Amino acid sequence: NPTPLPEPDPSAFTGDDARFIADFATLCTFGATPGGGVERQAGSAADGEQRHWFAGLLRDAGFEVVFDRIGNQFGLLELVPGAPYVVVGSHMDSQPTAGRYDGAYGVLAAAHAAFRLAEVYRSDAAAGRQPKYNIAVVNWFNEEGSRFQPSMMGSSVYTGKLDLETALATTDAQGVSVREALESVGCLGEGDGPRAAFAAEIHIEQGRSMERDGITIGVVDSNWAANKYEFIVHGEQSHTGSTIIEDRKDALLGASMLVLTAREIADRFPGALHTSVGHLNVYPNSPVVVASRVNLLLDLRSADEEILAEADALLHQRVSEIEQAAKVRIERRTGHSWPVTPYQIEGVELAEKAAADLGLSHGRVKTLAGHDSTNMKDLVPTVMLFVPSAEGISHNEHEYTRDEDLVAGLHMLTEVLGKLVEG
Ligand code: GLV
Ligand code: MN
Ligand code: MN
Ligand code: MN
Repeated sequence: NPTPLPEPDPSAFTGDDARFIADFATLCTFGATPGGGVERQAGSAADGEQRHWFAGLLRDAGFEVVFDRIGNQFGLLELVPGAPYVVVGSHMDSQPTAGRYDGAYGVLAAAHAAFRLAEVYRSDAAAGRQPKYNIAVVNWFNEEGSRFQPSMMGSSVYTGKLDLETALATTDAQGVSVREALESVGCLGEGDGPRAAFAAEIHIEQGRSMERDGITIGVVDSNWAANKYEFIVHGEQSHTGSTIIEDRKDALLGASMLVLTAREIADRFPGALHTSVGHLNVYPNSPVVVASRVNLLLDLRSADEEILAEADALLHQRVSEIEQAAKVRIERRTGHSWPVTPYQIEGVELAEKAAADLGLSHGRVKTLAGHDSTNMKDLVPTVMLFVPSAEGISHNEHEYTRDEDLVAGLHMLTEVLGKLVEG
């Protein structure tokens, strides 16, 4: 039994910092799991509840709340009528039995950073601080892609990478569509959302590099590429007892070979390639039945697109071998993919200066996971920041980031947001 996670503790902070940690503690109650994590898959009741709570928080601070046509939630603060927006935020949906921090931290930090700046621009102390852009706090829809694929759905529609109607028609395993799920939680809106000039996102690292290097702020300078696939292994349903081995066309055997293949390919490129199968559906999934079909989702990731292409070719070759060995037919559909693209250097340097001004230890890092900012950076200059993750644990209820790191990240995001808003 792992030791329970420390609860977010506002009493260790004062003023706005204490309010931020208190709001974070409240946010952790939506979809809370007995194991100390959260479960708020996209468009679920818990996802809807946190969004309505968040709308209240934004409105109380004087922000206008709108949902766009794919359920992205925006808190708008107009500082310069007609000007485009700095879009800052992340996602509050989660994986099943997930941690508290992935995404949720970044949305709440964005809101609190914006609240602080709103105060600055309202007060006399703002003399000399002139906003050039408006602020849109964003809670993107369905970043995780656990219930509805692909991941990063809301930001993909917003950035024009994914067709709206395709996204709305996507169904979960129960046949519920994105449109129905969004309607059922009251989060399907209209329109395209605010027009972006810049974007920013803060997130937990979900890896070990910052903890290892002892830095508080990671400035993301590029991402790993990803190729995701759906494989459909077709076999033939038969009796597990009476069908002689030679006669079997076992879809689960073929799928298992694909799972092993993914790992074997990763082992050829130690440290440079990550591959996994994270999802399997077995049909009919019954004890005395040889599987007729298996659907599985496999992903390949690397910082080196040549390695990714090599891995892809190896996989392709292995698929034909598995078809022969397991007497199955394997259909392959290419899913969501993204290339390696650097974050704009101006944003990296702006963030490094902000960290130095605040006296926060920092370094450049890469993101291995996909983020909504991975989409946004292809549309507008984007700053992506990380705070450390304890032991790199993520997509797990034991995901943890210390309160003082959350608060340092909030200070950092506030500084960066101010610089972006003031141009
Ligand atoms: C999405 O977050 C991914 O990393 O696939
Ligand atoms: Mn995330
Ligand atoms: Mn995640
Ligand atoms: Mn992610």
